[in-house]
Amino acid sequence: MSVKPVFVGQLPLDTENAFAADVVAGLTAKPKRLLPKYFYDLVGSALFERITQLPEYYPTRCEIGILRNNAPAIASLFPPGCALIEFGSGSSRKARILLGAAATVEAYLPVDISGDFLQQDVAALRRDFSRLAVYPLVADFTKTFDIPRPVAKLPRVGFFPGSTIGNFEHHEAAKFLRHAGEMLGAGAVFVVGVDLVKDPKILCPAYNDAEGVTAKFNLNLLARINRELGADFDLATFEHHAFYNVEQSRIEMHLASTKRQRVRVNGMTASFRAGETIHTENSYKYTIESFQALARGSGWSPLQSWSDGLFGVLAFSRDGD
Ligand code: AVJ
Repeated sequence: MSVKPVFVGQLPLDTENAFAADVVAGLTAKPKRLLPKYFYDLVGSALFERITQLPEYYPTRCEIGILRNNAPAIASLFPPGCALIEFGSGSSRKARILLGAAATVEAYLPVDISGDFLQQDVAALRRDFSRLAVYPLVADFTKTFDIPRPVAKLPRVGFFPGSTIGNFEHHEAAKFLRHAGEMLGAGAVFVVGVDLVKDPKILCPAYNDAEGVTAKFNLNLLARINRELGADFDLATFEHHAFYNVEQSRIEMHLASTKRQRVRVNGMTASFRAGETIHTENSYKYTIESFQALARGSGWSPLQSWSDGLFGVLAFSRDGD
């Protein structure tokens, strides 16, 4: 991991840097917004790991429970001799559950934009699954990426756990599902983890934990902008807000300025009214049926689904194969 220098004073506008460009665009937009993918620098990834262990944050525990309880049934849907392609694999913890139940998987391809987290457990995987070919791929999984030659001909199973798809707007999720179908090809199966619509009394605490880890995770976005872009956000003057938007079936996270102020960011000035927020994340919740309808519209036929009432693991096959 390269550590970016901390800049002091004014910086030229850096259009080469996608992070800088997205931050400037987001803080110029009305209302202000930042992209949730930028939560996950080293500090943010460690904070997210802590979130997954919080008593209030049920999704990770639920999904792992569902995968454990149903791994043989899920694995029975995989075409023999397949390649398991995981989209956005932070750690291979969940894939390991499927790999343990699916002796027929020949290759495992975790795909992640950050190489840092990809490499760390490859050696352990190769040790624990000795007949498995492991190919970590550093790529943006929303775009087309190349499948390594030796495993390119294997039938493909996509795995997209964690309800990461909940960060996408519905049209983006539909576009991603269609694109994944094209990447996975004929005979493909897709296994997707989706957080479900439920009582806000369960949803809200999951994003407003008592220990304040989610608040730190949210505020780290400003800390990261300070660190990497030399901005001067005063973190003490921004508050974590998270609430359930019933009409949109989504948790929204915001950072609210507690006062009227100006912040210098990468050569621009962002002005805040007292109470003005930066919208940092949407986490869409689905019903099994609403997600299956979305996937159908993107060329996937529902095969089976497993749920504990809070979280869903849904399996699909590609239409027409
Ligand atoms: C990784 C997008 C699934 O939406 O629950 C956790 C991110 N944000 N707490 C989620 C998150 C605040 C998480 N996803």
